[in-house]
Amino acid sequence: MVGKLRALRSWRAAGGSERAEGGPGRQYPGWFIALEGGDGAGKSTQLAAVADWLRGRGYAVVTTREPGATPLGSVLRNLVLHAEEHKLGARAEALLFAADRADHMETVVRPALERGAVVLTDRHVDSSVAYQSGGRGLAADEVAALSTFATEGVRPDLVVLLDLDPAVARARREERTGEADKLEAETAEFHERVRATFLARAKAEPDRYLVLDANQAPRILTGAIQDRLDQLLPPTAEEIAKAAQRAAEIEAAVAREQEFRAAQAEAERVRREAEEQASREQQERELAERQAAEQERLRLAKERAAASEIAERARAEREWAEATRLSEDEKRESERLAQERRAEAERDALRRREHELAMRQAEARAKERARLAAAAAKAAADRAGRLESPAPKSERLKGSEADRAERLESPTPEAERLESATREPERLESPAPESEEES
Ligand code: TYD
Repeated sequence: MVGKLRALRSWRAAGGSERAEGGPGRQYPGWFIALEGGDGAGKSTQLAAVADWLRGRGYAVVTTREPGATPLGSVLRNLVLHAEEHKLGARAEALLFAADRADHMETVVRPALERGAVVLTDRHVDSSVAYQSGGRGLAADEVAALSTFATEGVRPDLVVLLDLDPAVARARREERTGEADKLEAETAEFHERVRATFLARAKAEPDRYLVLDANQAPRILTGAIQDRLDQLLPPTAEEIAKAAQRAAEIEAAVAREQEFRAAQAEAERVRREAEEQASREQQERELAERQAAEQERLRLAKERAAASEIAERARAEREWAEATRLSEDEKRESERLAQERRAEAERDALRRREHELAMRQAEARAKERARLAAAAAKAAADRAGRLESPAPKSERLKGSEADRAERLESPTPEAERLESATREPERLESPAPESEEES
């Protein structure tokens, strides 16, 4: 298949499609290939090999030869190559070959070409020019014109010239069995001229000739001819179908590959997008978490601040209450202390007054006792005096003793004042009604 594709490509590269569509000089759809060369160059071998190869590729192939491919040609061939009874001149020989060619073209070659076959012929016009002109010495243009007349201008599309030293060709021939024909039997010089004529014609039209060194192995020669035919012949319908199928397969494979790559690229794009989306979502989650954490932190801070404020306020209130309480306690305490101090002072004053009173009372009592003692002494003195003057005196004595007893029972004004002073604190502790105080 690869070989056929390569053949298709090389045929197209060589402009084959143009020729196949009936380019200049082409009057039929088939292809006309001539193998030329000296006797024993190996044309028959190559023709068979190439024919097999072409048939294998699907071509309709017709193999033929000159002279003697047709019934008339067979007669003419015998005449020209083997009949001993007729001595042929060069022109008669040329005409007989031309006659064979005309019949060959009319009955075999042209119909095959018109059917689209590949016609492979062993010898054609070049042999006439090489043998009858180069070998026999006829004018080349006249021999060529004779052939053109016989072929009606149909020329081989390709001439494969198997070039071989005539001496080598002779040696090959001599190995083969069978008798040499009239031309094979010609001199070495004859065959040298034939060879030179072939080569000169090939040189004059290199595009239409493939000159091969026939000393090469048949396999090599076949390959070279195949390569040239690859460029010349259009691909067969079978090849075109297979190539189209192969192209379709390649196109389908390319499309599958592109589809696969596109799917891969799409999968990659989707994967990347999913990753990016996941990454975005992760970032958003993290951001939301950070924001939530921040809000929570702020809330807690706020709560702590509020709690702290409440605690602070409570503490302040406690402190204030404490301070208030302390201050009230202190106030009360100081008031109490002041009261105590006042009470103490009053008690001191009272005690002093009591002491003073006691002192005064004691003094008064002492004075009283002294006075009484004085009075008693006086009374005793008086009594002692009255004893000396009785009655009235006992009366007065009686009266003065009654006064003293009364005075002892009722305190003196001084004692009363002291007693009143001792009662003063009681009035302070339980104040009397204002009216009483005022009164
Ligand atoms: P042939 O038996 O076909 O042998 P070969 O394998 O060499 O072709 O002999 C054909 C002979 O005819 C050959 O020697 C060449 C000769 N010949 C001409 O001289 N003029 C021609 O136009 C042709 C076709 C052949």
